[in-house]
Amino acid sequence: MSGLLRFAALRLAALGTILFTASAIAEDTTLYPPGPGREVFIRICTRCHEAANATKLRLTRRQWQGKVYQQADRGAEVSGEELDQIVDYLAKNFSPDKPAAGLGK
Ligand code: HEC
Repeated sequence: MSGLLRFAALRLAALGTILFTASAIAEDTTLYPPGPGREVFIRICTRCHEAANATKLRLTRRQWQGKVYQQADRGAEVSGEELDQIVDYLAKNFSPDKPAAGLGK
């Protein structure tokens, strides 16, 4: 393979990786049900780790309250109002009566 061709092939491979990664991320956020608090949740709770840290869990409102406030202790920059919106969103959509993560996507 000539140098130029090899260069082109490498560039294509790199582009493929970027496109694949971008589409994987875009697809991921469509898993989260629409509703009040969704945007705040995605904005705040994907800063340090994947949102799936939270959305793979099924917790009661009380348990979500504990988890979400614990994240603020970990350093999440978020107002009390935003925390409450996130608790509402998670308690509504990721409660113990919902199918386990990975089933009813
Ligand atoms: C400032 C960084 C930061 C932000 C912002 C953040 N987290 Fe976390 N979170 C962590 C760290 C650090 C851990 C522990 C290590 C890990 O599991 O990745 C963690 C772990 C978790 C876990 C699993 C472990 C556990 O404690 O049960 C959940 C659930 C979670 N976070 C939910 C959330 C939610 C919901 C939000 C949005 C309110 C959020 N996180 C925002 C830093 C953050």
